[in-house]
Amino acid sequence: MATKRKTRTKKPAPAKKATTRTKKRVTASKAPKNKKQPRRAPTAPPGYKRVCLMTGGGDAPGLNSVIRAFVKASEDLGIEVLGSEDGFEGLIQSGRLVRLRRSSVRGILPKGGSILGCSNRANPFAYPEKDRRGRERVRDMSKEVLARIERHGIEALVMVGGDGTMSHGRDLMRLGVPVIGVPKTIDNDLAATDYTFGFDTALDTATWAIDALHATAESHDRVMIVEVMGRYAGWIALCAGIAGGADVIVIPEIPYDPERVVRKIQQRSELGATFSVVVVGEGARPIGGTRATVSKGRKGHVERLGGAGHELAQRLQGKVSHEIRVTVLGHLQRGGSPSAFDRLLGTRFGVEAALACQRGDSGIMLALRAQDIVSVPIEEALAEPKLVPSAGQLVQAARHVGIELGA
Ligand code: F6P
Repeated sequence: MATKRKTRTKKPAPAKKATTRTKKRVTASKAPKNKKQPRRAPTAPPGYKRVCLMTGGGDAPGLNSVIRAFVKASEDLGIEVLGSEDGFEGLIQSGRLVRLRRSSVRGILPKGGSILGCSNRANPFAYPEKDRRGRERVRDMSKEVLARIERHGIEALVMVGGDGTMSHGRDLMRLGVPVIGVPKTIDNDLAATDYTFGFDTALDTATWAIDALHATAESHDRVMIVEVMGRYAGWIALCAGIAGGADVIVIPEIPYDPERVVRKIQQRSELGATFSVVVVGEGARPIGGTRATVSKGRKGHVERLGGAGHELAQRLQGKVSHEIRVTVLGHLQRGGSPSAFDRLLGTRFGVEAALACQRGDSGIMLALRAQDIVSVPIEEALAEPKLVPSAGQLVQAARHVGIELGA
């Protein structure tokens, strides 16, 4: 009887896990030294075989959907994926690159945050650090980044991020590094794409908060001010305000007159509505005034906004008869499980990014245009931020349903 022949196929090494940042780090292997790289057949597709994925800037719900889809699709296409921890940090410091496999991304779809971590300080061209005397300074680390890319045999960078991350990518591209961008930000202010993932979840959270504040505002006959994120764009404030039925919305694109806000609250009182809900975009400012900030921008650090809600409260104080309370939603808007829309958009972006790697694309950012994911030159995405058109349909809709916009 013929015995079963033992197969000689070598068992693949068990994949090391890098599913959460608290788990043991898996250091990426370096590109084999002195070993001749196997020549690709002339018919082989032009794409990359080893790429590095990172999630830069502030986190946004849906990042894990992109990572998961990118890793899975890349594995199918025969592309090796390294992950750079904390944005560009993994390319700036040693020991911060991890090998990502299908097993690394199991179960992460509904999770907020990023399994790779994020950073809005890890700028390869102006990296903040302390000198020997403890004074802050910034250092150009681009040479170190290029050296690490070379050492690990990385053929392209796939950057999931907002305008800051894209601009670092563009600058690395000018130094010869192929880059592919995936747009992310809860602010939805990136030009060239109809939507960034993260926005939809933040919008849901802000709308939920406005709904919740209505009940308590009404019980106590109060003016409830809710400050939402969005930086210099009013997308979250305007969309959540309309969806939540706010009485007043002030956004960065339309400097407001506090007297108009006072008048609106008084009119409502006269009509028997003893409470009002006011939504304030964090970048909003009164006419002739400045933006409220927590800290000014300086080299290596971006400006931090905050306080716009309290500023408006001060301007209303004594002019309306109600008690006023301020709620700052803050980072709640960045956390939590991503909405179905963000999971879907993140998954589509992740798959398209892997296909872009297979094609060997560079200098592009993926974008959602109507129903399709398309590629646009990265410069186009960085041209200028996408702000709320102050005479656009959304603003008109708000005005027609009786929302006061302060001007
Ligand atoms: O850009 C996203 C964002 O959440 C803004 O809306 C907000 O102004 C900023 O990041 C907050 O940044 P940080 O997490 O550094 O406080």
